[in-house]
Amino acid sequence: MTTTLPAPGLRRGYRASVLHLLGDPHVAPQAYAYFDDGLLIIEHGHVLALGPYATLLDQHPGLEVVDYTGKLIVPGFIDTHVHYPQTEMIGSYGEELLAWLDAYTYPTERAFADKDYARSVAKVFLRELLRNGTTSALVFATVHRASVDALFEEAEQLGMRLITGKVLMDRNAPAYLRDTPQTAYDESKELIAAWHNKGRLSYAVTPRFAGSSSPEQLRAAARLLVEHPDCYLQTHVAENKSEVRWIESLYADEVPPHTSYLGVYDHFQLMTERAVFAHGIHLDDEDFDLLARRKSAVSFCPTSNLFLGSGLFRLDHAQQRGVKVGLGTDIGAGTSFSLLQTLNEAYKVVKLQGGKLSALRAFYLATLGSARALELADKIGSLLPGREADFVVLDPDATPLLAFRNRKVSSIDERLFVLMTLGDDRAVRATYVAGALVHDRDAL
Ligand code: GUN
Ligand code: ZN
Repeated sequence: MTTTLPAPGLRRGYRASVLHLLGDPHVAPQAYAYFDDGLLIIEHGHVLALGPYATLLDQHPGLEVVDYTGKLIVPGFIDTHVHYPQTEMIGSYGEELLAWLDAYTYPTERAFADKDYARSVAKVFLRELLRNGTTSALVFATVHRASVDALFEEAEQLGMRLITGKVLMDRNAPAYLRDTPQTAYDESKELIAAWHNKGRLSYAVTPRFAGSSSPEQLRAAARLLVEHPDCYLQTHVAENKSEVRWIESLYADEVPPHTSYLGVYDHFQLMTERAVFAHGIHLDDEDFDLLARRKSAVSFCPTSNLFLGSGLFRLDHAQQRGVKVGLGTDIGAGTSFSLLQTLNEAYKVVKLQGGKLSALRAFYLATLGSARALELADKIGSLLPGREADFVVLDPDATPLLAFRNRKVSSIDERLFVLMTLGDDRAVRATYVAGALVHDRDAL
């Protein structure tokens, strides 16, 4: 991987078409900026200015400019739900969620007790993120402390804004993957002290899901959030119908009657503003209202939901009821690291429910929408002056088919829609993290 760090203080411009979202197109259809011949100026790893090439260049005489004419710059993609240890088990055949966990996932995660092993997978994982234009992610590690250290260390070297945490799981899983409420608390606490808010890194308290944490362990997770209110919480919810039935019966004696699966997390005080719940396929409107009230987010993971046969996330309903929604690959139940391909499947999930996901709404989900889901929109997700300079240079004509199809494209909406339908890692010409080139497709 090439990492070209600009000299400190160096100001550099990037000429290309540039697009970024300024708001949710669902609410404000015109909330985006597009410069057909644009210039993005970066200094000290942050955006200094963005505008039309000719005008901005006049204001910055002598500026060194990298010419990406014919390409499209967008903010770096943000993956709000992904499991790095599952990189090596993508495409595991045949099962629905609970059997898939037992047959493939738990045995795979066992190896991450070994830090060298964890590091070797972390390197591949981060390289895949960057090859696909993903510059930030909220990531599940495993139950092992070393798996968290390994990923943080690798992400730190790359300068990425990344959030992860030790998985908490003390029941209904093989003994080799179980911790206890006390070790979960103690080890999380140590990891928070070591990593939270270190540079661009943040910590997420990570109970795997209500099925694999005891009530006592969920209480320990809540205690961590009270003691560290700016830490994240990530978990899974309402992914699979059998799982929902199981969780509701598992907690029947712990929570008031008729408490939903999501309500279990609320009962244990885990629904914070920085909580991200993956999937949420089988949530009802009351659950969506609860998410909106608590300002917690859902991560929509279409490739995973289709692959495991989990169901169709009700994106329109969730957004109409004011729920923050981000986009997730959920590797290794998800089948692609590419957020373009994830949007391709998101479109189909919405279409199967009679809706339409416009390209602008889709790109919002992958950038600013996901930044908002992570409460990071003041730092990433757009290219406003002052934002951290995480961006992707997309190649709209990356493949012969894309180039052929683009001959019939006339608007930016259409160009984006074709990109998310036909594009993948091949369409990522370059990826920049905090102003540094971290992936250059053509240099390989
Ligand atoms: N629910 C609990 N653990 C997992 C996991 O690893 N992947 C998915 N998709 N769902 C889960
Ligand atoms: Zn997951």
